[in-house]
Amino acid sequence: MEIGSSPLFFLLALSFVFAFGAAQNSNPTASSCSNRGNFTAGSTYEANLNTLLSSFSSITANDYGFYNLSVGQTPDQVNAIALCRGDVQPDVCLSCINNATTEITSVCPNRKEAAIWYEVCMLRYSNRSVVGVLDRSIVAGLLNPFNVTDADSFNAALNNLLPDLMRRASSGGSLRKFATGNVIDPVLQPIYALEQCTPDLSQEDCTTCLETALQEIPGCCGGRRGGHVILTSCFVRFEMQRFYDEPTNGTTSNSDDNNNMSRIIIAIVVPVASVAIIIVCVYFFLRSRKRKEIVETVDEEIINPESLQFDFGTIRIATNNFSDENKLGQGGFGSVYKGRLSSGQDIAVKRLSRESGQGDLEFKNEVLLVAKLQHRNLVRLLGFSLQRTERLLVYEFVQNASLDRFIFDPKRREQLDWEIRYKIIGGIARGILYLHEDSRLRIIHRDLKASNVLLDADMNPKIADFGMARLFTMDETQGNTSRIVGTYGYMAPEYAMHGQFSVKSDVYSFGVLILEIVTGRRNNCFNDRDNMEDLLSYTWKNWREATTVNLIDPALRVSSKSEITRCLHIGLLCVQENVADRPTMASVVIMLNSNSLTLPMPSEPAFFMHSSVGSDVSYSSTGYSSRVNITTNRSSDEVFPLAKHVDSFSEPFPR
Ligand SMILES: *[C@@H]1O[C@H](CO)[C@@H](O)[C@H](O)[C@H]1NC(C)=O
Ligand SMILES: *[C@@H]1O[C@H](CO)[C@@H](O)[C@H](O)[C@H]1NC(C)=O
Ligand SMILES: *[C@@H]1O[C@H](CO)[C@@H](O)[C@H](O)[C@H]1NC(C)=O
Ligand SMILES: *[C@@H]1O[C@H](CO)[C@@H](O)[C@H](O)[C@H]1NC(C)=O
Ligand SMILES: *[C@@H]1O[C@H](CO)[C@@H](O)[C@H](O)[C@H]1NC(C)=O
Ligand SMILES: *[C@@H]1O[C@H](CO)[C@@H](O)[C@H](O)[C@H]1NC(C)=O
Repeated sequence: MEIGSSPLFFLLALSFVFAFGAAQNSNPTASSCSNRGNFTAGSTYEANLNTLLSSFSSITANDYGFYNLSVGQTPDQVNAIALCRGDVQPDVCLSCINNATTEITSVCPNRKEAAIWYEVCMLRYSNRSVVGVLDRSIVAGLLNPFNVTDADSFNAALNNLLPDLMRRASSGGSLRKFATGNVIDPVLQPIYALEQCTPDLSQEDCTTCLETALQEIPGCCGGRRGGHVILTSCFVRFEMQRFYDEPTNGTTSNSDDNNNMSRIIIAIVVPVASVAIIIVCVYFFLRSRKRKEIVETVDEEIINPESLQFDFGTIRIATNNFSDENKLGQGGFGSVYKGRLSSGQDIAVKRLSRESGQGDLEFKNEVLLVAKLQHRNLVRLLGFSLQRTERLLVYEFVQNASLDRFIFDPKRREQLDWEIRYKIIGGIARGILYLHEDSRLRIIHRDLKASNVLLDADMNPKIADFGMARLFTMDETQGNTSRIVGTYGYMAPEYAMHGQFSVKSDVYSFGVLILEIVTGRRNNCFNDRDNMEDLLSYTWKNWREATTVNLIDPALRVSSKSEITRCLHIGLLCVQENVADRPTMASVVIMLNSNSLTLPMPSEPAFFMHSSVGSDVSYSSTGYSSRVNITTNRSSDEVFPLAKHVDSFSEPFPR
């Protein structure tokens, strides 16, 4: 069998950006279109294949996730098997298989034999008999782009775990040959692994298949934090975070306690983990106390949440029943409508599309806190409205469109001369500084971008969508989060990759914004086929070669060149890869205000967009403004300092 076609691999690599961390990825992971022969349109074989594929939609689910079907008579007989990963629930399994039945014919059109793999299932058909037949063709090797820090200890632990899982998987019964397990390596990093054969294989064939797969690992994924080797009849995968669920039924068990090493490690880990748990508990205890205090002080100032509450009917009328004509746009948390109250006041109404995960009272309290954040560079939150599951946020209406509608528009960008752009940069900086330091709450915006900066009638910038993290029960202090909300291109690498956010991740986004405002280019290389560079590398190159004049938006007729260069300089400082090298917003505001201050030299910024995907990936349809919303299933292992989301970071390895 030949190796899956490369567009699929790019799809996969792409999926790491858009779906990493998601429990199930609905894109195929790999495919194999056999060259053993094609059928012709209208042939009996085609009819049999279609019958077979559609009959998968009516099979009854079983507990072990393996299905075989045959349709027709030789020579037009079509045989198929479908297998789900051993930890997958029957309904998810069937959904995945049904996706595979529709996808396989478009990925491998007219093939007499083909196979397709997804994160949680695979489907294979052929005119040959497939049940019980070992096929060790290597379909794909997918590797995690991140390297382990201590390869020797990692490999030692992996070499201990994988052969053991192989023995356990192949000795599984005729219904399921599947094993998972984990070890903790000598430097206390966990490794999770999974091995599975199609259960129709004999024990010997399964062992042979998995042995072949294990031999591929050093070439594919040696030294990496994860890898996934797919053969036609079996597969192996390992990662440093749990990527599978506990098996539902006890054919195989997860932890292998015959292993002395894991005993020793557990002895070390348990005390460490207990300390970590205590620290976490104390932290949350202190945090919840702090939250209470804030709520109490606000209450003391006698602001009644009810005074911020708008009647739902009033808003419905004001927005003409949320009509399409009134719709201003669509943000990540819901659609925004223009409205006019009977008093004549214009408002913008955000109709939240997502469960906020909060009760009404908690929601009201948070609205109250966010409404108290008032600054001339923030869009003012006027109130809210609740009606059963409907939640609305009512904002002041800001006259002009968002910044992106100006700076990236060939005509409107000319309205923004340097003086205005400089004022906008300064205003955004002061708005963020207020959120970070000057307001009573420390707010990290987490989704700063040109479309979240609105311009009023005088072209003063007003930041929108702040405080969303509070309204959606996300952690709001510095830390790690399992839920990432943000926009690629603006997200600091540590946030995008590890969910670590801080005021410095906002600084990063602000830096990208400065560069966009000066250059008039989006931080998105993918729309422009001729220029495959992203804005950060393009800026850096010109900066290093002292050709910054190339960077300035041609719509800006040369005005204050030194001021522009200084802004580029500050922008580069803000996008430094090392969090500590980025200035705080307070320093940024000082740098912007004082031209005499000497600025530190920037080093090469974080080229996050290019780091592992390769520049061939096209984001054109979903790229720039797509929102990413990731929830990982946190397991009981979260006390370990796991890098989040690595599991689907895999990319193809060259064969
Ligand atoms: C399957 O199809 C190929 C190509 O048409 C043919 O060469 C082969 O003999 C067929 N195998 C069986 C078992 O019918
Ligand atoms: C089958 O068709 C594909 C294109 O659809 C072609 O690339 C391949 O060479 C064909 N295989 C055979 C054996 O004819
Ligand atoms: C099947 O496809 C649908 C639509 O693309 C997707 O939402 C769903 O998650 C997929 N199911 C599985 C198990 O991948
Ligand atoms: C991992 O190591 C390989 C080879 O040592 C290197 O080519 C690659 O760039 C490294 N990847 C990262 C993300 O550091
Ligand atoms: C294949 O399907 C047939 C009938 O549907 C069944 O009797 C047989 O046990 C299945 N084989 C395997 C290996 O599941
Ligand atoms: C395990 O499988 C058996 C039969 O296959 C079933 O009766 C039992 O309920 C299952 N147990 C769980 C926990 O799903």
